[in-house]
Amino acid sequence: MHIVAIDGPAGSGKSSVSKTVARKLGYGYLDTGAAYRALTWFISSQAKNLAAIDLDFLTKEFDYRISLDPDDYWVKVGSTDVTYEIRETSIGEKVSAIAGLPIIREYMRNLAHELVNASGFAGVVVEGRDITTVVFPSAQNRILLTASEEVRLRRRSAELPEGISIAEQITKRDQNDSKVVDFLSPATGVELVDSTELDFDSTVEAIIRIIERTK
Ligand code: DC
Repeated sequence: MHIVAIDGPAGSGKSSVSKTVARKLGYGYLDTGAAYRALTWFISSQAKNLAAIDLDFLTKEFDYRISLDPDDYWVKVGSTDVTYEIRETSIGEKVSAIAGLPIIREYMRNLAHELVNASGFAGVVVEGRDITTVVFPSAQNRILLTASEEVRLRRRSAELPEGISIAEQITKRDQNDSKVVDFLSPATGVELVDSTELDFDSTVEAIIRIIERTK
C-alpha cells in the first residue's frame, strides 16, 4: 500500500489538489477532515454533551462511511448523506472544539488506518491536518502543502459565496486548530510544497514529481 500523506492549513487547496493527484495516479483519496465534520454534525444532531463523548459512543453509535473514490465523493452517517451539510458554516465553527479532544483524535487516527486498509486501492492520497506527523508518520510520501495567508484567503473567498467573512473564519479556525496540531511548519522528513506562486495544475505537478521520485 502506497500512502501519500498531505497536510496543510485551511485554504491551501489540499482537498482539490489531493483529489486530482489521486485521480491521476489511479489511487484512492481520503479526506480525513470529513470525519471530524461528520462527527460534529452527529453530536449536534443528537444534542450530545461533549463531556459525554467516550470510546463506547464513538465505536457503537457513530456509524461513519466515506467514499475513497476520487470520482465519486460522498460522506454518510448511518443512512443520512451528509456530504454537503458538513461543509456548512455552523459545522466549521464547531469542529475545532471537537477535533481538540484527545479521545477523538485517537479514534480518528485508527479510523483513517482502517479506511485505507479496506479501500481496495493500490495507494491512497490521505489529506488532513496531522496526517504526515501523527496518523501516517511512515508514509512513503509526506508533504506539507502551504500558501501565504493572503493567497489562502483569496482562494477561499473565490470558492465560496460568503466572501470576506470567510477570511475571518479561516484565520480563526487555523488559530484554533494550530493549538492542537502544528500544521504550518514541516516536521523532519516532510517535504514542503509552497503553492503561493503556483496555479492549481503546477501544484498538482509538483506533488506528482515528488511521488514519482520515490516510486
Ligand atoms: O480539512 P477540514 O477543514 O475539512 O477539517 C475540518 C476540521 O477537522 C478542522 O478544524 C481540522 C480538523 N482536522 C484535524 O484536526 N485533523 C485532521 N486530520 C483533519 C481535520
